[in-house]
Amino acid sequence: MASLWSGRFEKDMDDIVKEFNASIHFDKRMYNEDIDGSIAHVTMLAKQKIVSEEDKEKIISGLEEIRRDIAEGKIVFTTEDEDIHMGVEKRLIERIGDVGKKLHTARSRNDQCQTDTRLYLRREMREILGMLCEFEKVILRKAEKYADTITVGFTHLQHAQPVTLGFMFMAYFQMFKRDMERLQDALERMNVNPLGACAMAGTTLPTDRHYTSELLGFKAPCENAMDVVGDRDYTIEFLSVASMSMMHISRWAEEFTWWNSTEFSYIAIDDSYCTGSSIMPQKKNPDIAELLRGKVGRVYGHLMQMLTVMKGTPLSFNKDFQEDKESLFDAIDTWKASIKIFAKMLDKTEFRMDMIEAQLDKGFLNATDIAEHFVMQGIPFREAHSIVGRMVKLCEKKNCGFEQLTDEDLQSIDARITVQSLGDISIKGCVEARKSYGGTAPCEVMRQIEAGINWLSDYEKTISESIKV
Ligand code: ARG
Repeated sequence: MASLWSGRFEKDMDDIVKEFNASIHFDKRMYNEDIDGSIAHVTMLAKQKIVSEEDKEKIISGLEEIRRDIAEGKIVFTTEDEDIHMGVEKRLIERIGDVGKKLHTARSRNDQCQTDTRLYLRREMREILGMLCEFEKVILRKAEKYADTITVGFTHLQHAQPVTLGFMFMAYFQMFKRDMERLQDALERMNVNPLGACAMAGTTLPTDRHYTSELLGFKAPCENAMDVVGDRDYTIEFLSVASMSMMHISRWAEEFTWWNSTEFSYIAIDDSYCTGSSIMPQKKNPDIAELLRGKVGRVYGHLMQMLTVMKGTPLSFNKDFQEDKESLFDAIDTWKASIKIFAKMLDKTEFRMDMIEAQLDKGFLNATDIAEHFVMQGIPFREAHSIVGRMVKLCEKKNCGFEQLTDEDLQSIDARITVQSLGDISIKGCVEARKSYGGTAPCEVMRQIEAGINWLSDYEKTISESIKV
């Protein structure tokens, strides 16, 4: 079948070229956005008297009929359609005749594909923001439950200082909060209207791009036609935010994986989030945590792919840019599934306190606290650090903890210290005393949780107002 652009051609495209050139197999998922964009466009063309009211009505009802038929599976797109824009337009002309040929006035596929992608991405971004809100709620709930439950805090994967589980959860809360802020920020920047930019340089026809922007809920028409058809930086920005957030998911998934190991056994991931082995009957593997850890790879890949696609391309539109959609769609799907599954896995996970408690007296978790007690007694921190270092050395030699050191032991290290000057060195006492702003004391964790709850409820109100879809 001849293509909609076949006027100046003598030969049809080679079949393998058609297949190679087509984007219909992946851009058909934007059919709703394509039709929304066309309806807004023809509404504007009628307002501007570029098409008649009667033609506009015919075009809109034809488009709505096509929308219904696609949704009901009555329209099957093939390579012959090339892309969703031509697939819809071709059917419109088939159904309503010559009037349908007026729709493509003062627009181009170059602005259409950008309008569709931005509309599609905007809806998905909003959904992702909503999903991140739900995830944050699970984190807050868990943080509250474990606000004063003590665990080992690591640096370099070595025992460092005691912290509460709630405190650790709130660290992840902050990471996902920043992801949400970054996503919101990217959304504000990309929410401008490409429609009517036409191929690259605008049009001689008296269009009103402010009106289509209003109809489609865009903040404004994009300022420069050449820029909007010739760039994909908003896609790259989205992929970068998605990559960062997937990296956060991957890090926490890694913690789940080792917390779940036989050696740690801090948690036992719920059966419904594990799989068995085909050969080893005893196995219960944390496959879902591992998949969540690994999925980030494909999202980074998409980011690299798009940065590379765009590198060195001249203005304005180049067909290279059609490569934007598959990576974008896969990143959206991967990120959404990962957030949803992680939230559920976290919700179902309980911590085995007996296993965690057994680790708390290892690794001198309270060493820094003792040094700080010395500081309060007038010993400069550098000296206090060195004294406690020597205490650790002695404990290791005697194979005991700080609690077992005697006055004699301590005096042999430094004349200024005795058992009494160590103060409360119980792990619980140490955690409770870390009340500095942002610290791990349960009262401080509760402050962080409350601030998180307040931020989230304000945020949920603003997202529904700021993005009208
Ligand atoms: N299918 C194309 C895309 O996804 C639409 C733009 C085609 N424009 C062109 N001049 N060939 O980017």
